[in-house]
Amino acid sequence: MSYTVTLIPGDGIGPEVVGAAVRVLEATGLAFQWETENAGASVVGESGTALPPRVLDSIRRNKVALKGPTGTPIGTGHRSVNVELRKQLDLYANLRPVRSLPGVKSRYDGVDLVVVRENTEDLYSGLEHVVVPGVVESIKIITERASTRIARYAFDYARTHGRKRVSAVHKANIMKLSDGLFLDCCRRVAKDYAGVTYDEIIVDNCCMQLVLDPTRFDILLLENLYGDIVSDLCAGFIGGLGMAPGANIGEETAVFEAVHGSAPDIAGKNLANPIAIVFSGALLLDHVGEHDAADRVRRAVHAVLAEGVKLTRDLGGAAGTTEIAEAIAAKV
Ligand code: NAI
Repeated sequence: MSYTVTLIPGDGIGPEVVGAAVRVLEATGLAFQWETENAGASVVGESGTALPPRVLDSIRRNKVALKGPTGTPIGTGHRSVNVELRKQLDLYANLRPVRSLPGVKSRYDGVDLVVVRENTEDLYSGLEHVVVPGVVESIKIITERASTRIARYAFDYARTHGRKRVSAVHKANIMKLSDGLFLDCCRRVAKDYAGVTYDEIIVDNCCMQLVLDPTRFDILLLENLYGDIVSDLCAGFIGGLGMAPGANIGEETAVFEAVHGSAPDIAGKNLANPIAIVFSGALLLDHVGEHDAADRVRRAVHAVLAEGVKLTRDLGGAAGTTEIAEAIAAKV
């Protein structure tokens, strides 16, 4: 059995960390065909777009992709590749497991939560216009269909992963109609899942409670914007963006990516921590049913972290991206 995977190296440190993930995934002994199709700032010059259609075609054909970070200019320039990918492929669920790691210095122990974020609508629809000079309108779209679909995803995930509680995070006290609709959908779905506790929390309070004690949460279910912010907050509980995996999942296709950016400050220096995308690779293995290989990859990362010898600079060590990748691959 060979898996054909679309590989998007991306910008900045992307090619380095993606290369490291490929090295580790191949160490599992599974056979992969990597179909490399790049996207991001580096292809805009030659393609006229940051997301050439051949990238989408490749993912549609192969069903799964492993993606490095892609740069997006602020305020002007091309649209975010991530937002476009999610929209074009209808990758409606953004999944971010957040779990404390051995040997990694952080403020909390025993964190084990999952952020489930709606990925296709909300203020990320890109519907903005200048009403009159000096006044801009940005439109928040919340639909019953997308809210119900993401709620169902969160509860199904709870069921299949032995999780006990789903907390819907909202601001329905202010956005009574839009966030109100989101909550209505979550409540309706919750009724179908007797074994899973359902509760609700206002987003600002949720952030405070998370910072006080993240171990009290299980699954957080959020709209797109709150989910974007809260998921990065949660990455801080386990050692930062270099450690946090992510997946964007649709009915047909799935794109696995690290949640950090292209880190232009350290690009090309063999300094980047590849663990986030290695963990994303493990999520990819889970997605295609290779749970044993996925567990071996995760255990290998844990072992390298616990040993504390081959660590990258952000983890307090002096190893390069390639060295830590070799160390993980050897444990796999
Ligand atoms: P960033 O995540 O690239 O960098 C923030 C800080 O974290 C930097 O100091 C960087 O060196 C460090 N860092 C990030 N990943 C690291 C890793 N794997 N190992 C060690 N250190 C790491 O965020 P920033 O600077 O806000 O964004 C830079 C570019 O990345 C922007 O163009 C942005 O649009 C893009 N971006 C892309 C994302 C994606 O494709 N998923 C996500 C976030 C940002």
